[in-house]
Amino acid sequence: MALYQATASAPVNIACIKYWGKRDTALILPTNSSLSVTLSQDHLRSTTSSRADASFAQGDRLWLNGKEEEIKAGGRTATCLAALRKWRKEVEEGDASEPKMSEWPLRIASYNNFPTAAGLASSASGLAALVASVSQLYQLPQTPSELSLIARQGSGSACRSLFGGFVAWRMGARDDGADSLAVQVAPREHWPEMHALICVVSDAKKGTSSTSGMQKTVATSTLLQHRIKHVVPQRMDEIERAIAERDFDAFAKLTMRDSNSFHAVCLDTEPPIFYLNDVSRAIIAVVEELNRASVAQGNGLVAAYTFDAGPNAVIYTLEANMPLIVNTINEYFPQTQAFPDPFKMLDKAHIAKPEGFNPAVVREGGWEKGAVSRLIHTTVGDGPRRLGDEESLLNESGEPKTLA
Ligand SMILES: *[C@@H]1O[C@H](CO)[C@@H](O)[C@H](O)[C@H]1NC(C)=O
Ligand SMILES: *[C@@H]1O[C@H](CO)[C@@H](O)[C@H](O)[C@H]1NC(C)=O
Repeated sequence: MALYQATASAPVNIACIKYWGKRDTALILPTNSSLSVTLSQDHLRSTTSSRADASFAQGDRLWLNGKEEEIKAGGRTATCLAALRKWRKEVEEGDASEPKMSEWPLRIASYNNFPTAAGLASSASGLAALVASVSQLYQLPQTPSELSLIARQGSGSACRSLFGGFVAWRMGARDDGADSLAVQVAPREHWPEMHALICVVSDAKKGTSSTSGMQKTVATSTLLQHRIKHVVPQRMDEIERAIAERDFDAFAKLTMRDSNSFHAVCLDTEPPIFYLNDVSRAIIAVVEELNRASVAQGNGLVAAYTFDAGPNAVIYTLEANMPLIVNTINEYFPQTQAFPDPFKMLDKAHIAKPEGFNPAVVREGGWEKGAVSRLIHTTVGDGPRRLGDEESLLNESGEPKTLA
């Protein structure tokens, strides 16, 4: 008997123009558009297997990293699965020979290859992998942009993980959200020199969740109103131009300013939300000083930092400057885990800081070991991948395999 199953992986995306605030919380419609870079699945990915079988006991079941999660009726996962089933039903209605998978229970297993404790947003890649996997299982004809409408309802920024490269989430104008979707602004091949370094910053306390933080900002921040009316629309145009022209200076300036604008509206929220900590701010100081010294030498900016709803820094830089960035971060923020250097670049390229770099911007002697626990070096990457059955996360009985 045929086995109806599919396995897909999906990438993490890190925004340069941040999404912060919903105009409709049920449909997850943003107050503004946003733009992100998709990171390579060679380093960070969510993988999801799904299977439909008429013989499964009633009710869908889902496992995340081997642990069963309840699919709450009316919750976000249930909403996504209902929307995917509706499109599957259209396929079945168009061709009577198609198996009636839309009526069968689903078994879904998902796995993130990075620790949730690392504080990297796993919901975006996870939801994108779920939508990619079930849409492959159902053999849906919809485009990635159309599928992004469903991923968006699972977790807003997940819609951007349905594409590789440089991706915009267009806010749309309609009340039903039918035009609030992701589009690719440029493929990764357009600017493959774009690399990223994730600095995992240890933080004992649990920050405000982005879902609740965001709506507190919408309800109380006057600065957010200025941001959405006068700042973001213009920045979206400018960053798309910077990407089209591969203008790193403009890209870096916009990315850093938008990260700072986002954290400013968090601070302007009542009660205030703090996502950055002292280590995050020290990383900002180091990157700002590298840039200042480089520009003073008549050269361009070397890197751009950006921070989401947590203390981890993501530093975008062009490939040629990555050895300098890694060495500088290593010098001031020694890690507990040795840097794996996946691109073998540390020993062969220039690492000298620009002349005039002022080491006093960071506290003397640098930070204690482990303030940054690890570094992940990656690049701009591709969109969801279709994987073979041999990579399935489900065993014969439709339960998660125990991963070695
Ligand atoms: C952003 O949001 C504001 C207020 O809702 C709106 O006036 C503006 O047109 C939006 N534009 C973009 C491109 O995000
Ligand atoms: C599938 O995995 C579950 C637990 O993850 C286990 O209990 C079950 O026996 C497995 N079934 C097969 C056929 O391997």
